[in-house]
Amino acid sequence: MSERTVTSPALHDEELKKQEDAIKTIRAINDEYTLKTGKKKKYYILTMGCQMNAHDSEKLSFMLSEMGYEHTDVEQEANFVLYNTCCIRENAEEKVYGRLGYLKHYKEINKDIKIAICGCMMQQDTVIQRIRKTFKNVDIVFGTYNIYKLPELMLTNMETGDTIFDIWQEQGEIMEDFHSIRKIPFKASVNIMYGCNNFCSYCIVPYVRGRERSRKPEDILNEIRGLAKEGVKEIMLLGQNVNSYGKNLEKPVTFAELLRMINEIDGIERIRFMTSHPKDLSDELIYAMRDCDKVCNYLHLPVQSGSTAVLTAMNRRYTKEKYLELVEKIKKEIPDILLSTDIIVGFPGETEEDFLETLDVVDKVGYSTAFTFIYSKRTGTPAAVMENQIPDDVTKERFNRLLEHVNSGVEKISETMVGTVENVLVEEINRQDETMLTGRTERNSLVHFKGNPDLIGQIVPVKIKENKIFYLIGERML
Ligand code: SAH
Ligand code: SF4
Ligand code: F3S
Repeated sequence: MSERTVTSPALHDEELKKQEDAIKTIRAINDEYTLKTGKKKKYYILTMGCQMNAHDSEKLSFMLSEMGYEHTDVEQEANFVLYNTCCIRENAEEKVYGRLGYLKHYKEINKDIKIAICGCMMQQDTVIQRIRKTFKNVDIVFGTYNIYKLPELMLTNMETGDTIFDIWQEQGEIMEDFHSIRKIPFKASVNIMYGCNNFCSYCIVPYVRGRERSRKPEDILNEIRGLAKEGVKEIMLLGQNVNSYGKNLEKPVTFAELLRMINEIDGIERIRFMTSHPKDLSDELIYAMRDCDKVCNYLHLPVQSGSTAVLTAMNRRYTKEKYLELVEKIKKEIPDILLSTDIIVGFPGETEEDFLETLDVVDKVGYSTAFTFIYSKRTGTPAAVMENQIPDDVTKERFNRLLEHVNSGVEKISETMVGTVENVLVEEINRQDETMLTGRTERNSLVHFKGNPDLIGQIVPVKIKENKIFYLIGERML
């Protein structure tokens, strides 16, 4: 396995040049194929996991389209199939093996199809061993640190016919100048940092995404200015822990300072970010959120558990009280803010009392959305070897009780919106009813309302008429 890292600006440019050359060569091959057959080659991408992975897939899509491939949603008609994997929980991994098994059979019939896999799962040795042994029909395997190399890896595979494994053990320098293909043209994700240093005891991310590293503010601002010129109105700033942005830069910059700079960019109307770790959320950030008109009054603030004992075992480095105090402070400065969260049920050693503390936090905070997870043991993490792993039936019963509390909180919040006027960024025609449009409010609630499709991409005032708990029905204000 390769352990190369790129360390200087000259090497950075050289690496990117190599990719440009590979893109040109593959494009020529694909153009010839189109001339001969009258058909364009197609690619299919399956993306699992979080928004980081989704954004990586947007970058990979751009590279594939530059190489002359056309996107398809139908896996069976693709000439190039790419799985961008996640390993945060075990069931995500099982799904990938299942699909690779199916592809194996499919490739026996269609020998020309190329299969590539990448993403977080590939950064684990056990996974690579299993792929080498069981899934010999895979053509290209790469990890999370070198997605920019896709063109080069594809070309080497075409030239040699060998399966290419290119997994780096460590992160290299940050690669700049990436373009991406977005599903919604006026909404874009922007990486501000990569990796994570927190090592929450249950979590695999620091092992598969490497140490924390921040992009330079000028690179981020340039990218966003470019996006604004392309007509992007809403941006989502991505990092595993955005609150520690900029600490290791040559000239340190805080996340709050970065937000204030982005807020000045013309054309951008909404700024969102994720994820905020409660332990690093500064007053300075709360004030920046309060002061910057474009920063949405919505905050994803994962609590994970309401029990201080469990939080300590999770290595989250805050207590239940500290979390609740933080929420109070945020609500005081930004009274109309809505909060969302992530919660894990069934962490090793979680007692009924611990779980009741989690319910208490849910009831006290009142989240507008909560992503709830059953604890999944990840080999290599400290929690995997903790005693007192919780039996499935206990976890499932707690999980159901948690959902009841979460849903009743969501319902109460949605109810408060009925009668208010919300600015909605219209995203698409409603999938169930073509006379309706679908969009999101500043505070991230989903709204359906009757309207003309030329409103797509605009921010329009909508009066909220009905609360359907997980979405709202509104009427356009004229
Ligand atoms: N960096 C983000 C989270 C990234 S992972 C943060 O710290 O908030 C997204 C969510 O997956 C986590 O917040 C956690 O709730 C959940 N998660 C992570 N590891 C898990 C595991 N082993 N089992 C169950 N859920 C897990
Ligand atoms: Fe995982 Fe914790 Fe890092 Fe989030 S902050 S990615 S949960 S280790
Ligand atoms: Fe994201 Fe899954 Fe990787 S949640 S960072 S894609 S392990």
